[in-house]
Amino acid sequence: MSRGSEQKPAVARKSPGLSGIVRIAGDRSISHRALILGGVASGQTRIRGLAEGEDVLRTAEAMRALGAVIRRDGDEWVIGGTGNGALLAPETPLDFGNGGTGARLLMGLAGVYDFDTVFTGDASLSRQPMGRVLDPLRRMGVQVKAMEGDRLPVMLRGPETPAPIRYTLPVASAQVKSAILLAGLNVPGVTTVIEPAITRDHTEKMLIGFGAELLIETDKDGTRTVRLQGRGRLTGQTVDVPGDPSLAAFPLVAALLVPGSDITISNVLMNPTRTGLILTLQDMGADIEILKRRIAGGEEIADLRVRHCELTGVTVPAERALSMIDDYPALSVAAAFARGRTVMNGLQDLRIRERDRLSAMAEGLRLNGVECEEGRDRFSVAGRPDGKGLGNAALKRVSTYLDHHLAMSFLVMGLASEHPVGIDDRRAIATGFPQFLDLMASLGAEIERA
Ligand code: S3P
Repeated sequence: MSRGSEQKPAVARKSPGLSGIVRIAGDRSISHRALILGGVASGQTRIRGLAEGEDVLRTAEAMRALGAVIRRDGDEWVIGGTGNGALLAPETPLDFGNGGTGARLLMGLAGVYDFDTVFTGDASLSRQPMGRVLDPLRRMGVQVKAMEGDRLPVMLRGPETPAPIRYTLPVASAQVKSAILLAGLNVPGVTTVIEPAITRDHTEKMLIGFGAELLIETDKDGTRTVRLQGRGRLTGQTVDVPGDPSLAAFPLVAALLVPGSDITISNVLMNPTRTGLILTLQDMGADIEILKRRIAGGEEIADLRVRHCELTGVTVPAERALSMIDDYPALSVAAAFARGRTVMNGLQDLRIRERDRLSAMAEGLRLNGVECEEGRDRFSVAGRPDGKGLGNAALKRVSTYLDHHLAMSFLVMGLASEHPVGIDDRRAIATGFPQFLDLMASLGAEIERA
């Protein structure tokens, strides 16, 4: 996020029915991985539909500093990769801004090399603990120098010959799994990661697509073992990035909540490790038609036709949390308009991965008249189907703590609430979804840049 200290508020107001067809920006997880693997593969990679939020662009910048040649060519991004094992020592610190995924994935990729790499980020990223990634890297022989605990800024230096590890993730996390696998690319022998339950599997799919030797086994209890043969050859590919389901969440929930809405969101990623929100909204009775299911770039995608309808509160099972981990703010807003109570379980990780997103969510909902209850690992929201009394007549703004998921969720809330909903700062939205305000305006949403 740009550094200036002046906040830029925004206010959303009750809107008429939303309508139109929109194509959502590319999936961010896949975009980071395409830049990273393209940057370290031999030959040329072309990426279509890259997400161009600030966090992804920071990953591109970091890959350039590590030796990849990256340029935009019309609608495509073209990368000349270094070849596996041939990254260059960066001359300056790699600054990831607000981008936790880029920072963690590249700590793995570059951290095992026998040179110094310094990782920095903005105030919010520098508060997040990085130990979950640093611990396995230490076992590979990486030296870690951090100023304060395991937080950024961090300097990593790999050994001459990193050690292959067999690592069981203490907590399921796609970022940590991916960091270890990317580190494993430059480790002789087989690197093994064991995850207690499946998390988004884009790294594995893309590594296979780029030619890595990778084997996956899933036990009856869901434990998944991923084995990567290190120091193999990666070859540049063409990558088509599907639309991001976690960004589609915002127009989708908006259309469900605003009476009279009927919209279509095209080209949305339907990988089952990412569709928990859609399933949950369907359980709540949402009118979401899944059209034209098809495969593009190795991933399943579809178009979603979404119409306004009444929602009913449900209990969301803990096992679903991993497939919708970024989508609880959007779900909480949907729940605020549902008949009855929605109970979300298995949320312990939301308190540690981001800046305690649960309590920030609860604070904003209460400010806008929603009754909610926060437990250590659960969250429950009581809904009001007509939005009566919701919003904040005095226009008190929600504190969004540089979290774009919170910022966009509360703006969506304002489109269906009786009173307006304001947020303190819309700048963080550029991190993940710079097109958000224009896209929502094209559907008829009334959001003012206050
Ligand atoms: C991501 C993994 C998830 C998610 C994040 C993106 C990824 O984090 O919250 O936004 O691209 O690997 P965890 O790895 O902490 O589960």
